Amino acid sequence: MEYTVEGLERSRNIGFRQGDILGLVLKVFLNLSNDLRILDLGCGSGFFTRIIAKQCNAEIIGVDINERLLDGARKLAKKEGLNIIYEVGDIRNIGDKDNSFDIVMCDVVLERFQVITTPLSEMKKVCKDGGIVVAIEPFYQSFIEYYPETDNETRNLLLKFSRADRNFGLGPMLPESFNSVGLKNIDFVTWFWGDIGYKILEFETKEEKLQFMEENLKRIKKFLPDSKQLQKEEQLKIIQFYEERLKFYKENPEKLNRDMSVRGMPVFIVKGYKK
Ligand SMILES: C[S@@+](CC[C@H](N)C(=O)[O-])C[C@H]1O[C@@H](n2cnc3c(N)ncnc32)[C@H](O)[C@@H]1O
Repeated sequence: MEYTVEGLERSRNIGFRQGDILGLVLKVFLNLSNDLRILDLGCGSGFFTRIIAKQCNAEIIGVDINERLLDGARKLAKKEGLNIIYEVGDIRNIGDKDNSFDIVMCDVVLERFQVITTPLSEMKKVCKDGGIVVAIEPFYQSFIEYYPETDNETRNLLLKFSRADRNFGLGPMLPESFNSVGLKNIDFVTWFWGDIGYKILEFETKEEKLQFMEENLKRIKKFLPDSKQLQKEEQLKIIQFYEERLKFYKENPEKLNRDMSVRGMPVFIVKGYKK
């Protein structure tokens, strides 16, 4: 998948939501303080580096294999007046940084590896003794899609659609993987990644919300025929549901602000200590 700064920021702003709640959860769970060195691997547009930088004055380094995303990350951090270093690097071979960081983290990066013990061992290697390794991964199989105005049959179909053809979703498997590379005192919290209601988010307009729904519909139409788990008839019903919804909100844009749907899934935030 080709990641863009805009796509990553949008999905994070919707799923993790703007504001400080996630930052405060991380602050408590990871015991964030000013004297730490923190490494975020596969940082993309730097969403997590910025969330953490707002919670403490630690030295924060974001690393990604994609230079273009790092350019965007630098601009966003600068815009918010945050002092974060961004460098090109590979989570599979982080280089000459052994025992260097108090916290080594990554969000939705491990899922791309068939065997995650290689990147996880690398994360452990660059972590200081007593430091924390953190991985954040969703559990797609628990995706929930709830719209009060839909009947049970449609609701069940939407649920099936959310889970179809998605076998990845490492979240609940992370503790076992952490254990297998020798991390200790493993613990986790979960975050509900999701969009609550059709609310216009604080960073968008009604037109942008409608445009997003339209683009989403186009995406669904494009990839649904590839589904191995949804019958043709089910695919058509799903498309019809999204088309009718878009039509309804185009005709009634004022209703975009009603707060009545829940759409999302648990994301596991797992930590383990090196020694
Ligand atoms: C789903 S995005 C997550 C970005 C960011 N962690 C976030 O949550 O906003 C996955 C990121 O992993 C990066 N990536 C993929 N393979 C990588 C590798 N081998 N080493 C470092 N980064 C990698 C991609 O460039 C992309 O930015």
